[in-house]
Amino acid sequence: MSSFPPLSSPPLVGAPLESLHPLVLYTKQSCSACTLAKQTLAFTPSPSPPVLLPNGLYRVEGRSTLFEGLEVCVIDLKVDERERDRIEFERLVKITSRRTVPQIFLSGTWIGGGDDIQRLGLDGTLLTKMLVEGVVDKERVKGYIEEYGSVRVPPIFNGEKEGKDGNATVPKKDIPYGEVLKEIEGLIETEKDLIANASNVSSAVYNAIIKYRGARGCNWVGFYFSRKCGEEVILVLGPFMGKPACRRIRFSEGVCGKAARTKEVQLVKDVHDFPGHIACDSASNSEVVIPLLSEKGEVLGVFDLDCPVLEGYSEEDASFLESVARMLVEGSDWSLLAEKEVEASEVVH
Ligand code: SME
Repeated sequence: MSSFPPLSSPPLVGAPLESLHPLVLYTKQSCSACTLAKQTLAFTPSPSPPVLLPNGLYRVEGRSTLFEGLEVCVIDLKVDERERDRIEFERLVKITSRRTVPQIFLSGTWIGGGDDIQRLGLDGTLLTKMLVEGVVDKERVKGYIEEYGSVRVPPIFNGEKEGKDGNATVPKKDIPYGEVLKEIEGLIETEKDLIANASNVSSAVYNAIIKYRGARGCNWVGFYFSRKCGEEVILVLGPFMGKPACRRIRFSEGVCGKAARTKEVQLVKDVHDFPGHIACDSASNSEVVIPLLSEKGEVLGVFDLDCPVLEGYSEEDASFLESVARMLVEGSDWSLLAEKEVEASEVVH
């Protein structure tokens, strides 16, 4: 990692902190939404210790490695612990009309909270806003595109028409599959409960992808389980990470249904080209679905991953996910699902 860009020292009085740096996050310690926002921005703190400012805030310098060359200043608001930053916090509440963190400012303008940064980061809007504000250099973005593939750049900057291929491409940073598999093994080796294991597997895989590929690496990771419903066996939503999703899918429908029906991995480069794709999250552009097969070859369910960019997953990813699926199948007790049928529902894809 090269040296951190120097940030101008904030004056003791005068301009608000958020107007002094391109991107400012107001966060608190031990706040999971704040951690997620920092992950979304691939925030890397500088090695220098936090600085206590006269207004009671701690300033942590760092930068986002999401887009090379972008400075990010993160300021921790420790309102839980001390009263001395109360005035500053109330000023923030006035601007945002919210008492929650994180709150994010771009060039001195409030752009939203944790959910907003997730959304803006995922669909490329954040980069677009940063280009418009002149926060990231057009040439640097070009360099980024050359290194990692295309990112969604508005036509105003690249002089081209925006098409569906204008969606961002995942930076090709390798996920250390072996390490992640070890982590998953550790999570499930002393637990047999399917719900606990499937929950932890969703979280471990989701977080590994976001960590190594940034927020555009995936937007949904989770499970559908085979459940008896009258005369039919259908897929019913299980533990996942991501936005709320369709609850029931027939074996005849969607990418998940095809994986269950054919017992084969479905690697879909562009979901818009897949006839019958079920769009649970409009942000999804590509998808991979791994069938969960028992020793006898029965379909226990599917492991589904969505990505907001085209061709988000590779053959190597699919092999890794197959290993994850095997671990879950072999390490969990599946009898619970077989014991109870689900009631019929009108809402089924
Ligand atoms: N896209 C899937 C539906 C499930 S969501 O992606 C979570 C499909 O077409 O089967």
